[in-house]
Amino acid sequence: MQTSPSLLSADFANLIPDLEMINRSEADYLHLDVMDGVFVPNISFGFPVMKAVSRVCTKPLDVHLMIVEPQRWISQVRDLGAEFMNVHQEACVHLDSCVAQIHAAGMKAGVTICPATPVDTLRDIIGELDLALIMSVNPGFGGQKFIPHSVEKVRELRELIDRTGSHALIEVDGGVNAETAPLLAAAGADILVAGSYVFKAKDPEAAIHSLAVL
Ligand code: DX5
Ligand code: ZN
Repeated sequence: MQTSPSLLSADFANLIPDLEMINRSEADYLHLDVMDGVFVPNISFGFPVMKAVSRVCTKPLDVHLMIVEPQRWISQVRDLGAEFMNVHQEACVHLDSCVAQIHAAGMKAGVTICPATPVDTLRDIIGELDLALIMSVNPGFGGQKFIPHSVEKVRELRELIDRTGSHALIEVDGGVNAETAPLLAAAGADILVAGSYVFKAKDPEAAIHSLAVL
């Protein structure tokens, strides 16, 4: 299993030790949650903070934009050197065009769906995607309870990807922990995001390892 620890649960007053832990760990990516207070009822951090983080972090960046009109920020995300730019299906009226612009900027494109958005809304774009992200909590906050129906959505997305021959990876975000992660692995997830499970653990590197071995 690939892992993408979410910086949202790190210590914002002292990021260096947390970033050094990520660099040492088995994590495949660092997940960065950008919130605008409009698409979601919270504000996290923006480009100046991510720029500083990108100078220290040696892992590829997995940028999850919980913002309206994400296509306005493609060049800024590219300038971070991001591996994945994840936009919300619900935030993008012209999703096909947004995905094409992300690719034209040289990044891998991800599309995220909220808990109440059906997997089928990705049917006509899945062939263009490098990643599809299923939110297993309502976006906006770390430390929320996993929504059990998400496991079924991962299964459904796996079927859609296999049926269409898409190369998209399946990422799941929200409430990932020792109980929920094995269910998501069995359903066909490729990448697990984990915030509180990693950063609130006594041994964060061991928590990452516990997901990586699934
Ligand atoms: C929530 C964010 C998540 C968050 C997950 O809106 O997208 O990435 O950090 O936190 P946990 O793993 O604590 O649910
Ligand atoms: Zn996220």
